[in-house]
Formats: sequence, structure tokens, C-alpha cells
Amino acid sequence: MTDLRRRFVAEIERETGPLPPALADAFGAVPREVFVGGGFQRRDGKWATPGMPGFLQTVYSDNVLVTKLADGLPVSSSSQPSLMAIMLTALDVRPGDRVLEIGTGTGYNAALLSRLGASVTSVDVQPDVAAQARDALKLAGVQDVRLLVGDGYLDAGPDFDRVIVTVGVAGVSPHWLSQSRPGLVVVPVEHAGTHPVLAVTGTADGPVTGSVICPSGFMTAAGPLTAQHGTSHPAPTAALTALKEATPPRWAEPLTSLRYRDLWYAAGIWSTRATHAALPDHQQNAVALLDPAGTGGAAILPDGSVLAGGPDAADRTDEANNILDRWESAGRPPMQAWQITLSRTPDPRYPLWTPTSWQLR
Ligand SMILES: C[S@@+](CC[C@H](N)C(=O)[O-])C[C@H]1O[C@@H](n2cnc3c(N)ncnc32)[C@H](O)[C@@H]1O
Repeated sequence: MTDLRRRFVAEIERETGPLPPALADAFGAVPREVFVGGGFQRRDGKWATPGMPGFLQTVYSDNVLVTKLADGLPVSSSSQPSLMAIMLTALDVRPGDRVLEIGTGTGYNAALLSRLGASVTSVDVQPDVAAQARDALKLAGVQDVRLLVGDGYLDAGPDFDRVIVTVGVAGVSPHWLSQSRPGLVVVPVEHAGTHPVLAVTGTADGPVTGSVICPSGFMTAAGPLTAQHGTSHPAPTAALTALKEATPPRWAEPLTSLRYRDLWYAAGIWSTRATHAALPDHQQNAVALLDPAGTGGAAILPDGSVLAGGPDAADRTDEANNILDRWESAGRPPMQAWQITLSRTPDPRYPLWTPTSWQLR
């Protein structure tokens, strides 16, 4: 293992805690730079290419590397390594497992899965992205990954032991669930404008249940995987301006960002109006309960204060305070404490299994 990769594994472990030895070996062995050989967007917006000063240092850091943009928005990337590590740990791959990956992207995650001994099928909807991943896998000497170009919603072949989805979706495709035995699907499913990663088990005919592994900021999938359904939350918004303080802070010590995500998750359970809102006037992002027009509502901040605006401000403030009361009286549960039941949407062409009820474990 090179020094750079040894430090990389240590940086990942600072976020995740000790990795299973096989996974630490995989991060230490697979050359990430080969999978971003076409470069990536730096934080300052410029394009980093191999050979530039600092290129390898950024490749071997705990950062998402955006490798393709369309109309200025990221449409493919190599995900944040610590998030990949948490998802791969939850996937609990054993040598010989047949694993389906949705969202090949750079191919780096597929290469890690292959190093873990899985027999990997990986699907990406963008032909050029898949072609680059194919070249990178070849260059890295990874031979046993089957790459498919197409929509990951669709049937990718016979039953898999495990499915890992590396793009944000609205629900679980029935094609990812085995007909015969409960498999495991690790999947970021939309909830209140973000994509918490779920561990879902069940068969194609149900029942299907799950629990939350961790928060995530995955980009959203193309096609039927992001269809709106009966319990969809509103899309994230940047339109909430001119909000005023409606309720003062509850807590002298604001919630840490992880604990705030726990409150955010509960808000998404208790309100179908909850979504991710950028609050330009307050220079932060928050969970907000939108009014029907989507331009006003109430935002809950990490110190428990509520900002509100628009014609429904009073009602949405009450709703926000009810959520805060409920979360506190439930003992401020972490997102991982919820047992989730998923139901099949009635869409005749592209049904999805989506979260519909939650119970504290
Ligand atoms: C965050 S990247 C995946 C990261 C990747 N696993 C890696 O290791 O680099 C998300 C990928 O999902 C793909 N994608 C988006 N919608 C999809 C869909 N409906 N089916 C399959 N792939 C999809 C995008 O083209 C993009 O390459």
C-alpha cells in the first residue's frame, strides 16, 4: 500500500471508525486516480487533471469528485469515500456474492466490490460514463465486472445476493428484490428533500422493510426511479426568502449537524410538506415545511428556532413546533432508530417500493 493510500484509509477511518480488514485492504489497493483519469471539478470550480499539482492529494482525500456536469449540474461523480465505506460495510459482501450496482459512475465502487470478492454487475444510464468506466476497470486490471448501459430501474438479470444503489432514488425497484428469498438492498431513498441511505430487505411480493444507515447527499437518478408518488415530499427549494423569526431558539447549544439530520428525518416522517430548503437570507440550508405555493412556510433551525413567512406562516409555525415537541418527547431519536415499512406504489408501469410507515424500535 502506498503512503498516500495508507493515509487515505486512515482519513476514511477517522469518519467511519475502524473498517472491516477486507474493506481497508480494498481502499488501500484500488487505484482511485485511474477512475478519475478524465479529471474532476475542483472546489474552486476549475477542472483538475492528472499531473496537476495536488491532483493525487485530492484523489486520496475524503471528497466526492464530480467527473461530469450537464448545464452546470453534477451528473456523475466518484462518491465520498467515507460514505462508500459505510455503504459497503452495511452491504456486508462475502466472496462469491452476486452484487448488482446501480450507478456505475467512474467504476471505482465496482472495483472495490470486485476486490472484496463479489461478482459484480453494474448499470449506468449514460453510455459515455459507462464507456469511461469500462476503460478504467481495464486499466486497473479489474476483469470480473459486467457493465450494462441502461436504466437501473429495469431487470438486470437473475437474482442477486446484494444490491447497492449509488444514486438517489424515490424508492426500490421491484426488480432489485428477489422472487424467492429476502435479499439486501443498500439504497439512498428520497425523504424530506435528502437521500438517507436505507438497508432494505424483502421479496418482490413483499413484505419489504428497512432501516436508516446514514444521511447522504447523493445526486438524483434519471427516469422512473425518481417518479413522484403518493407520499413524496416536495422537491428541494431555494425559494424561501423573507422569513422572520417566529419562535426563538429552544436550545442554548445548537444540534450538531448529525443530530440535526435526526430531527430532519423525524420531520419528514411527521410532515409530507417537509423538504430541503436553501435559506439565502440566512446563509444556511434547513428542513422547511412548505406552504402549497412552495414560496413560504416554516424552517426549523439547529437551535430549535423557527423562521416563517408567507400566508400560512402561523399554521406552518405550529406544525414546526409540534414536530419539535414530538421529537423531544420521543427522546430525540436518531434516524437509525426507525423501523420502516415500504409499500408498493400503484403505478401500473413503474411501481416502486417506498417508505410509508415508521415505528421506533
Ligand atoms: C454518484 S454517481 C455513482 C458513483 C459510482 N458508483 C462510482 O463509484 O463512481 C451516480 C451515477 O448514477 C447514474 N444514474 C443516474 N440515473 C440512473 C439510472 N436511472 N440508472 C442507472 N444509472 C443511473 C449516473 O449516470 C451517474 O453516473
